[in-house]
Amino acid sequence: MCGIVGYIGDSNVEKVLMQGLDSLKYRGYDSAGVALYDNGNIKVFKAVGKLENLQNKLSALSDDEKRASMGIGHIRWATHGSATEVNAHPHLSMDGNIAIVHNGIIENYKELKGELEAKGYVFKSQTDTEVVAYLIGDEYKKVGNLKVAVQHIIPRLKGAYALCIMCKDEGGKIVVVRKNAPLVIGIGNGENIVASDIPAIISTTSNIVYLNDDEVAVVKKDSVEIEDLNGNKIPLNIQKMSIEMDAISKMGYKHYMLKEIYEQPNIVRNLLCGRITNVNTPISLDEVKISRDALKQLSRVQIIACGTSLHAGQIGRYLIEDLVGVATEVEPASEYIYRKNTTDKNSLVIAISQSGETADTITAVRQAREKGAYIIVITNRPDSNITRYADSILNVNAGIEVSVAATKSYTAQLLTLYLFAIYFAEVKGVSLDRLPSIKEELVSIPVKMEEVLSSDADIEKKAEALSKYQNFVYIGRGVNLPTAMEGALKLKEISYINANAYPAGELKHGPIALLDENMPVVSVLIPGHISYDKTISNCEEARARGAKLITITSSDDKELEKLFDVIIRIPVVSDMLSPLLAVIPFQLLAYHISNFLGKDVDQPRNLAKSVTVE
Ligand code: G6P
Repeated sequence: MCGIVGYIGDSNVEKVLMQGLDSLKYRGYDSAGVALYDNGNIKVFKAVGKLENLQNKLSALSDDEKRASMGIGHIRWATHGSATEVNAHPHLSMDGNIAIVHNGIIENYKELKGELEAKGYVFKSQTDTEVVAYLIGDEYKKVGNLKVAVQHIIPRLKGAYALCIMCKDEGGKIVVVRKNAPLVIGIGNGENIVASDIPAIISTTSNIVYLNDDEVAVVKKDSVEIEDLNGNKIPLNIQKMSIEMDAISKMGYKHYMLKEIYEQPNIVRNLLCGRITNVNTPISLDEVKISRDALKQLSRVQIIACGTSLHAGQIGRYLIEDLVGVATEVEPASEYIYRKNTTDKNSLVIAISQSGETADTITAVRQAREKGAYIIVITNRPDSNITRYADSILNVNAGIEVSVAATKSYTAQLLTLYLFAIYFAEVKGVSLDRLPSIKEELVSIPVKMEEVLSSDADIEKKAEALSKYQNFVYIGRGVNLPTAMEGALKLKEISYINANAYPAGELKHGPIALLDENMPVVSVLIPGHISYDKTISNCEEARARGAKLITITSSDDKELEKLFDVIIRIPVVSDMLSPLLAVIPFQLLAYHISNFLGKDVDQPRNLAKSVTVE
C-alpha cells in the first residue's frame, strides 16, 4: 500500500524512479507521481490510475524537460481523499519550495491543518501529506535549513510516516525520516537511493541501511548522514541485502502468482530443512525464545491476523488444540483491537502477517504486549515493523511475494504453524505417540505438492469450464474449513466472482436457500476422518437442489464420480496435514479462472499487498 522512491546520482533520475515505482506496484496503488529537481527547480508530474499513465506523460516530455539531478516518486493508495491528481503525491509546500512524498497516516493532520489555515495557508488537496509539506515549508522559512526544519516538525506529527523530502533552495540532498512505516536507504557508488521496500533498491545496490524510528537521514550523492531529532549523529550500519533479483522476476511465468504457486514445494522443503532431523528427535525451533517452563505454563493462545494470514491462523488453532490441548482463539486483528479482550500475562499471542506491515495486526500486537502477553510473530519480512514488538520471530522464509493474492506465504505460514504446534506438544510432553508419524508425513509434503502441481493442465481445463459461473459456495469441515475459506477468498480477490465459504454442516442452516444449477458447491474431502462422510452428505443435499458439485479430494473412490461433476484429486494425505496440499488446487483454480476472464491477476482492483491503515 503506497510506495516511495528517492534517488540522487548520475543515472537517469526519471528512469530510476519509474523503475523503482514499477517494482513497488505490487503493494497496490491508484495514482502515481514524481518530483524532479533540476538546478533550483522542482517539476512535479502526476497521473491517476496505472503507472503507465504517468510513464506516458513523462515519455511525451523532451530530455531537457525531465533533466534532473535528484528526484522523489510515489505510488498512492487513496486514504485521505479520492484517487485524483491533486491528491496524488508528491505534494509541495504552499510556496513550492518543499516537495514531499509520504507513506503512512498523520492522525492529527486536521488539527495541524487548522493551525496552518489560521495562519493564512490555503490547501489544494484533501490529503494529510500536504499538511506535512506546508508544515515543513513553514518551519523552513524560520530556520532556513531543511534537515533542521524536519527535526523540528517531527515531534508534532502523530501516526505513521515515511517521508522523503526535497527543497528547491537546497539542491544535492534528499532528507528522509520514518516512524512505524518502512524506509530503507540503498548505499551506492556515487549514487544513493531510498525506498519503502527493497525491490526498488535491488537494481542499484545491495548495500542497505535500515532507518530507525525518528532518525533523520540526509542523503547526498556521495554520502549519507543520520541524526536523531536532537541532532546527535548516528553511525551508519550498512548491511548486505540477501534478496536476489530472481525473487522479483517472473522467471518465465505469465504472472507472479503462478510463479509463486510453483515455488511452494521448495519453500516447504527449505523450511523443513534442519528442523526435523529424525522423527524420534524433538523438533528444532531455536527462534522460539520463550523458556520451556514458561511455554508449559501458558494457559491460552490467541492467534491474531488478517486476510489470508487469518486463515493460516485458523488452521493453527486446530493444530494447537488437537496436538497440545491448550485453548486457542483466533481473531481478525481489526476486531481484537476494538474490544475489551482478556489477554494477560499468561497468554501467548501469535501474530501472523506476511508483510509485517498490516496496521491492524501491528496495533493488536502492541496492545497484547502492553498487557504482558508473550508475543510470537510469524512473518515473511523479519525486517518489518511488526517484529519490533515480538519476543520471538518466526521467519517463514518464502522470499518476496509480489502477487497481491497471497499463496506461497500462506503455505509457508502453515508449515511454520505445524512446526510450532509439534514443538509446543513436545515441550508439554503431550501427543508424543502421534508426533513421529506426523513428522514423517511432513517430510513427504514437498513431493506431494509437486504431484498436485503436475495436474495443473487438468485443473486449467476445469477452471475454463467453471469460469462462466458468477457465484460459488465453498464448504469444508474441521481443519479444511479454513482451506475452503482461503479458496473462496482467492477466487473473490482475483476474479471478482462471488464466492462464499461456509462450514459444510452450516449449509443447511441458510445458505442452501441460495443453491440452484447456477451456483456450484466446491468441497474438500479427505478420507480417514469422520468429517469425510458428513461432508459427502452435505454435498448430496446440495446436489438435491440442482447445484453442480466440485470436490478436491485425496480419495481414489470411483463412486465419487457418480455424485461429483468435477473431481480434482490430490495425493493420499492425513486429514491433519491435508490443508498443505488441498489449498494448491484452490489457488490454481482461482488463478486460471482469473486469467480466462482477462483480469489483472497480480494486481487486482481495490486491493493492496500490505494494508497500512486500520
Ligand atoms: C491484504 C492482502 C491480503 C493479506 C492481508 C493481510 O488485505 O491483500 O492478501 O492476506 O492484507 O496481510 P499480511 O501481510 O498481514 O499477511
